[in-house]
Amino acid sequence: MLESILRDLECSARERIAAAKAPQYLEAVRIEVLGRKGTLAQISKELGKLPPEERARIGKLLNSVKQNLETALDSKKGQFDHEALRERLESEWVDLTLPAPGTRPGALHPITRIQTEIEDLFISLGFAVLDGPEVETEYNNFDALNIPPHHPARDMQDTFWLTDGHLLRTHTSPVQVRGMERLGPPLRMIAPGRVFRNEEVDASHEHTFYQLEGMMIDRDVSVAHLIFFMKTLLSAIFHRDVEVRLRPGYFPFVEPGFELDIKCLICGGGGCPVCKQSGWVELLPCGLVHPNVLRMSGIDPEEWNGFAFGLGLTRLAMMRYGIDDIRLLQSGDLRCLTQF
Ligand code: DAH
Repeated sequence: MLESILRDLECSARERIAAAKAPQYLEAVRIEVLGRKGTLAQISKELGKLPPEERARIGKLLNSVKQNLETALDSKKGQFDHEALRERLESEWVDLTLPAPGTRPGALHPITRIQTEIEDLFISLGFAVLDGPEVETEYNNFDALNIPPHHPARDMQDTFWLTDGHLLRTHTSPVQVRGMERLGPPLRMIAPGRVFRNEEVDASHEHTFYQLEGMMIDRDVSVAHLIFFMKTLLSAIFHRDVEVRLRPGYFPFVEPGFELDIKCLICGGGGCPVCKQSGWVELLPCGLVHPNVLRMSGIDPEEWNGFAFGLGLTRLAMMRYGIDDIRLLQSGDLRCLTQF
């Protein structure tokens, strides 16, 4: 009697396990049949009423039914786990070799681009590219450039002074001094870099901007050499003819000194905030190196002379890319920067 109940029970439970469509159906079978108050538990209570040999035989059968069902439940559960894992792997599959969404390739800042182009040009002309510190001595920034204390030219450049007497260089010209002292004549060098002036910021003025200094020292260097190099420079930068004009300009470290202006490429000469409505932009102050400057750096002006120029890299980038507000360049504004 109990034997056939047990066999039927095993049979129907196996069918239910096989037919289960989700793990919770298995759990129902487990509780109903194998649970503490389940069918098997109830049957085992009846065992005590049986004669001893019967009790042993049915007890053994009961145990094997129990074990069989546990095994069947576990293996079906294993199937469910396996399927769930496969589904998850399929739904979460990613190709790790694909570029991440939302990234854009980087690009060089417009000033960096112009700077490297000019460096390449001058390297091809035999110039060395030198570097100097942004925190300079007063001597290198002023005195060695023929700008002694109390010289009015110091007021032309509003200086950020540090408390220890050093300063933030107001131009890249101090690298001339470092170049002359370290390398001596003959010398061909350029020095791109960041410079600082204590200025009111507006569309054409920044307290931080970029210049590129150039210097050539040799025997019998003339204004003709200077003009040749400046023209070569400008046509390499703009890839076209730009209108230029040369005016006398005063800088204590050159004699004669010039201002080389270009016709404003933002407004075409009609007048705009960048050219201060004049139609011309000061781009390339230059001149023949003052004998005092050579002498102070240990170069004999009787034997050597040269030219120097200070290119406004920031302004040049604005001209070339048609940027009408200098503040955009250091703003970090990606709407501006991603256009290059
Ligand atoms: N250092 C000057 C400035 O920042 C620019 C300059 C003018 C540099 C004439 C030169 C030069 O080398 O010859 O205003």
